[in-house]
Amino acid sequence: MPRPWRRYLSNSYTDAGRAIVEQGKRLDEARRSLPEDSYLRLLADVGITPRDARVLAIIGQRLHSVITSDLRIRLPYRVRTLSALSDLSSETLAKATEDGKIHPAMTESEVKRLRGTSPRPVSTVIRPTDNWNFSTLRWPRIDGWEGHGYIPGDLYANCLWYYAREGDIVVDPMAGSGMLLRVWEERGEWLQGEDRSIEIKLADLAPRGPYASQIQWCDLLDRLPTDHSDYVIIDPPYYGLVNGQYSDSPNDLANMDADAWLEAMATIAVQFHKSQPESGRCTVIVPNNRNITTGERTLFPEIVHRIFQNAGYFLYDKAYASRRTQQKQGRQMGILNNRARREKVPLADISEVLTFINGNPFSADNS
Ligand SMILES: C[S@@+](CC[C@H](N)C(=O)[O-])C[C@H]1O[C@@H](n2cnc3c(N)ncnc32)[C@H](O)[C@@H]1O
Repeated sequence: MPRPWRRYLSNSYTDAGRAIVEQGKRLDEARRSLPEDSYLRLLADVGITPRDARVLAIIGQRLHSVITSDLRIRLPYRVRTLSALSDLSSETLAKATEDGKIHPAMTESEVKRLRGTSPRPVSTVIRPTDNWNFSTLRWPRIDGWEGHGYIPGDLYANCLWYYAREGDIVVDPMAGSGMLLRVWEERGEWLQGEDRSIEIKLADLAPRGPYASQIQWCDLLDRLPTDHSDYVIIDPPYYGLVNGQYSDSPNDLANMDADAWLEAMATIAVQFHKSQPESGRCTVIVPNNRNITTGERTLFPEIVHRIFQNAGYFLYDKAYASRRTQQKQGRQMGILNNRARREKVPLADISEVLTFINGNPFSADNS
């Protein structure tokens, strides 16, 4: 009587893939149930190395649902292929099972093909976390000046990426050298095909740099540069650092004392609140201020938050960007750092990137 070869070689006793998954499932159960030292003793008793046990437990944990969802399914019996299968997302795995793509002779390349093409990676200029520190800058300053008073284009790119929406009118009313426009002109580098049609409008009390002719002259304390703005980015002069650097106008925030600076910011917040639509966004970039000589601290981000809240905005998001104060380590910086330590007054290196939304956080438009 000839053997029924097909059944003889492909029944549940000979289904090596299924057996590996079952064993992995049991190892996973033991790993979860036992204290680590008992688990390691158990592995030694049953003759499985901790490394093999780890690999098998992952296979068991990820693939057990596949063998229970379809009792006829036969899995690959090579551990490497099972490992590759267990790396797939649950959706891909379920679809492959449904489409009958899983079989015992399956190879790792077949598993790779199941993954499909991964979405195009986003530019590394775009920070994946709220830590917006840039060790090397893609867009350093463009106005040819030295000293304070600029933010790198990398920061603008992140603002646009995270907070601008399709069709927005984006206004930078303290545009200075127009870095925002530079970053937008070179958007191919960071938007990577995801074209967004937004319109950029720039204004400043003292336009300068290569885009000066495209920056509208406008004193924000007097009027707004546009009737409508969906997204506003404000990089105001940091209090106490840039007195007289941009202009000698008393309306230049760079030339104000702390109280006048805050009052000016309140005027600006109210004006924008009135002109922006519900759900319009506004980003303000601002660091704390600490005076090493007097020890006085002004926590501007906290106060700006309150000012915008009082004007009718709510805080939507916060990111942190280094002002790179420690980038140049000369003798002067060394002296300053030592003074800060001695006086117990840390220098302010981080700017907070505060993004507000206009209106009520609970309205339908803003949820
Ligand atoms: C820190 S700088 C902005 C630099 C800018 N982010 C860039 O990329 O060059 C601050 C700007 O605020 C402007 N400014 C100060 N007071 C202003 C006011 N009342 N109205 C409009 N702009 C003002 C200054 O002229 C200065 O250019």
